[in-house]
Amino acid sequence: MNVLLLGSGGRESALAWKMAQSPMVESLFIAPGNPGMKAYGNCVSVDWKDRHALAHFCTAENIHMVVIGPEDPLVEGLADYFAESPELSHIHVIGPKKEAAQLEGSKDFSKEFMRRHGIPTAGHRTFTSDQLEEAKHYLTTIDGPYVLKADGLAAGKGVLILDNLADALHEMDAMLGQAKFGAASSRVVVEEFLDGIEFSVFVLTDGKDFMLMPEAKDYKRIGEGDRGLNTGGMGAVSPVPFVDSEVKKEVLSNIIAPTIRGLAHEKMDYVGFIFFGLIHTAKGVKVIEYNCRMGDPETEVVIPRVDEDLIPLFIDAATKKLLTRPMAQSEMAACTVMQVSGGYPEAYEKGKPISGLDMDIEGVLVFQAGTKERDGQIVSHGGRVLCATGMAPEASTALAKAYERLDQIEFEGVYRRNDIGVDLGLR
Ligand code: AMP
Ligand code: GLY
Repeated sequence: MNVLLLGSGGRESALAWKMAQSPMVESLFIAPGNPGMKAYGNCVSVDWKDRHALAHFCTAENIHMVVIGPEDPLVEGLADYFAESPELSHIHVIGPKKEAAQLEGSKDFSKEFMRRHGIPTAGHRTFTSDQLEEAKHYLTTIDGPYVLKADGLAAGKGVLILDNLADALHEMDAMLGQAKFGAASSRVVVEEFLDGIEFSVFVLTDGKDFMLMPEAKDYKRIGEGDRGLNTGGMGAVSPVPFVDSEVKKEVLSNIIAPTIRGLAHEKMDYVGFIFFGLIHTAKGVKVIEYNCRMGDPETEVVIPRVDEDLIPLFIDAATKKLLTRPMAQSEMAACTVMQVSGGYPEAYEKGKPISGLDMDIEGVLVFQAGTKERDGQIVSHGGRVLCATGMAPEASTALAKAYERLDQIEFEGVYRRNDIGVDLGLR
């Protein structure tokens, strides 16, 4: 079959790498992709926002399946567009409809969903822009740290954690009063602060059954020792040592199963991945957030550990024939480390030639993210430029291999965290 993958990051690179190995895939198209993804399929410059062009492309290339990588198209209803267009409705779309994508697209929606279904999460209150004074008064009645979240999508920047009340009041003014995050902060969710260690689990679901995938832990802050600004993610490891069979059992019965039952009960059409952002607290595992897609860079460690063909699973999900069982997974550990442009996640320069891409270390995959081709050369074109995923029976060996490969790759201003996995005793 002919498959179209939407996206251009490290996540989509890992998905493309995996799908390209399926004997069921005749042609894999990636829109827009990046230079590294040319090894896996045909990169095409179709913009998902131009629905007419996308529909035309799918018809002209006889596309049977569309896999949607990032959250924006999902939250904006791209899956609904396919389902509602007579000439596209036969195409299997991997990614939830707009309503269900609100699990990520609206913090308030996801908190209310969890409340309705008894899923453990931080307590919360939601305030709208006409409730600024009430919101500020509420802050004075609770203890810090204060967790303020823009309700809508804010490219990973919409969560603020503030230690003192004055800063919290100031930020509430900025978010709710002055639309710091535009429409995304026209509603603000104030959450109880949860203390613990974070990890993520992933499932593929058809909205009634689900397949559990390998878990991962990512490293969100730019600085070593988990300091500094939040990023999209600077590295990830899978498996996660403290996620033992007891923790998995708790997550399955208290979080994943009730979430899927909740989707089915509310008749929300969900075909695709769910990313459960979790925190292991003294009072058990709780949900920090849902995402309606895979994580980046979590995908770069989770997908290489998946030991079966994704395409038949995608077909089962799209035709609502999925069976609840764990996805086959490799015993090998995977660790990935991101190489980013100096300055990221704030201002950074692009267009720096990248050397060392042609080298190789056995057991390491390089997934490009923010790259582009200029005059026959690959140059940096984003904050997160590329990552290397090492695989080995021991996680510490996998991590060492990833670093060894990144030592070969250079560009001006390159930065990475050298402490990925240190907290887990892997380095
Ligand atoms: P989110 O975008 O909801 O995943 O939040 C981004 C990050 O903020 C999370 O990965 C956590 O590190 C942190 N965070 C979010 N909510 C809470 C909370 N209620 N308590 C403590 N930390 C939180
Ligand atoms: N790495 C976190 C995310 O993809 O949302």
